[in-house]
Amino acid sequence: MIPDKTLVGKDVYHAAPEVVEGAHVPNFQKYKELYSQSTEKPEEFWGNIAKEFYWKTPRTGKFLDYNFDHTKGKIFIRWMEGATTNICYNLLDRNVHEKNLGDKVAYYWEGNDPEDCMQVTYKELLQQVCKFANVLRAQGVKKGDRISIYMPMIIELVVVMLACVRIGAIHSIVFAGFSADSLCERILDSHCSLLITADGFYRGDKPINLKQIADEAIRKCRERNFSVGKCIVVKHLGVTEATGATDETCTDRASSNTQSPPAKRSCYNLQTTWNADVDIWWHDLMKEASDKCEPEWCDSEDPLFILYTSGSTGKPKGVQHTVGGYLLYTATTFKYVFDYKPDDVYWCTADIGWITGHSYLAYGPLANGATSVMFEGIPTYPNVSRFWEIIDKYKVTTFYTAPTAIRLLMKYGEDPVKKFSRASLKILGTVGEPINPEAWLWYYNVVGNRKCPIMDTFWQTETGGHMMTPLPAAIPLKPGSATFPFFGVVPAILNESGEELEGEAEGYLVFKKPWPSIMRTIYGNYQRFESTYFKKFAGYFVTGDGCKRDKDGYYWITGRIDDMLNVSGHLLSTAEVESALIEHAAVAEAATVSHPHAIKGECLYCFVTLRDGYEFNETLIAELKDQVREKIGPIATPDYIQNAPGLPKTRSGKIMRRILRQIARNEKDLGDTSTLADGTVIEELFNNRCRTA
Ligand code: WT7
Repeated sequence: MIPDKTLVGKDVYHAAPEVVEGAHVPNFQKYKELYSQSTEKPEEFWGNIAKEFYWKTPRTGKFLDYNFDHTKGKIFIRWMEGATTNICYNLLDRNVHEKNLGDKVAYYWEGNDPEDCMQVTYKELLQQVCKFANVLRAQGVKKGDRISIYMPMIIELVVVMLACVRIGAIHSIVFAGFSADSLCERILDSHCSLLITADGFYRGDKPINLKQIADEAIRKCRERNFSVGKCIVVKHLGVTEATGATDETCTDRASSNTQSPPAKRSCYNLQTTWNADVDIWWHDLMKEASDKCEPEWCDSEDPLFILYTSGSTGKPKGVQHTVGGYLLYTATTFKYVFDYKPDDVYWCTADIGWITGHSYLAYGPLANGATSVMFEGIPTYPNVSRFWEIIDKYKVTTFYTAPTAIRLLMKYGEDPVKKFSRASLKILGTVGEPINPEAWLWYYNVVGNRKCPIMDTFWQTETGGHMMTPLPAAIPLKPGSATFPFFGVVPAILNESGEELEGEAEGYLVFKKPWPSIMRTIYGNYQRFESTYFKKFAGYFVTGDGCKRDKDGYYWITGRIDDMLNVSGHLLSTAEVESALIEHAAVAEAATVSHPHAIKGECLYCFVTLRDGYEFNETLIAELKDQVREKIGPIATPDYIQNAPGLPKTRSGKIMRRILRQIARNEKDLGDTSTLADGTVIEELFNNRCRTA
């Protein structure tokens, strides 16, 4: 790529000839043509894409029907209503039987330990999925039932999710880093009838007893009068029931009756308690199951899955996606944004427990018949070259990761990267938070050897797929900009009064028209769906992000403008953290703000007002941090906790987090303080500041 300094002193990076050659969208002109077609004639554009997939019966309703304006009636979005299909059939059967991809590798699985690896082909994946789908049916699971999945990054996780999809059950995957409380809350919210988990896993050199956390969640559900029928447990670490003795062979795993080389697995010693009335081993159920399973044919608008994301009131929202639109959009974004070619080896480092893993480790790549790497471990174990080693090992062509991982690895300099050639790399991607130009340049210069374009993809759990993103050959890059809208996406920037701003502007990022994979509702709470996304500005979907458009029309996401924090690419709500803190007996009141962090991007800085009789000391700080970890999970652990005998409030009693943010940063300019009820608290807050990095 060749930097071009002619544009307003900002480097612009153009694709090198080898990136352009054979690209699906070779230049900006072609992008503009396709973009116009996608927004002016969505039916034609998406209708052509829909033809590449299998539909059992054609649609009965309109191709697209929607209302984005709450003043005109209920908000709704429907794509291809009445058409029936099955996504699992499209991802597996179609690829095996129609595309002849049965023997192609679907996943190279790379375990936490480098010698732990295996692969699974499309044919093998189909067999495993059919078997587990039959297991689910035998357990009484029916179309529309919610299934909770709490698993590490192992192939069985993909098997479980696709097995649910095959029989029309709705999966609700909970990231394995969440606590028992978080899991319990999510099981209760969507009334999941079954929980699927694993005995445990290693994260670097740290063992995680997942089964124990799952047990705790089941117990908590029972306390609240809800019983999870059964808990199916994958033996991943190889512990036998109750005794804790290790099993040397670790058979009956997803790879066991396949033609792939047998998995080399380390077996560890981790105690598992066994509740015979609830728990069932995965391998016991799979032994007898048939590998033929007729899919459940679902309506394009039937629910596909629920995925919880933080909400500004503190209670997580069960974002619900549907079948048809999600299939079209994840397949299409994957193809164009990563300029997918059949020989590519694609690696997305995100956990399947987040939307990135759902859309771009499972659905998008499988819909394209792609070969992916699935990685169980972390970037720093056993050493900080792990990513680059894996890239060479599998000859990865397309690498998709988070800015926080890049910043973390940047800290160790270039040597750990340069130990490996990375010669196979063609395209790089990032997601989750704004990428600072310094990290962008390091990713580009050092990791990509100045030849791989970087796809900075902006999107959300709610959007299901990429919204603002470059395309490798077609869109010249500016470090830190997510550039332009993807096909079918119509963005606008609004000011506080809801007026659309033209040209160079900054304001609220909203979308004016539905794209196929927009969320359809919040599970069990349609009102909240409408009020969170559509009430602020009638006729628009509100993202909650701020955004700038420069004079060349490039979009720059500036970050959240609501009460949300983005820690290492994961959204948290200040309210959720505050309510966890308040549950501690010592805390009368709590306020949380974001604070800049060199690696995580943002971290949590908390202010607590103690009840009488409690002393603020190191022990209490440690207890409060534990409390948040326990209530939410390790990702939400506060970096700083400050004693705040008084908090800045408005006369109506609202905490002024804007002022607290300035105090945390030791910024003396507090802006407008005219609404502050009692100004005397400020000096004390500055004096009590935590020493920040
Ligand atoms: C929020 C959504 C999308 C999958 C991962 C996070 C921020 C995401 C970018 C980007 C700037 C970004 C936004 C967004 N975000 N990608 N490329 N540039 N900001 O999913 O947990 O739903 O979070 O992440 O603030 O609203 P999520």
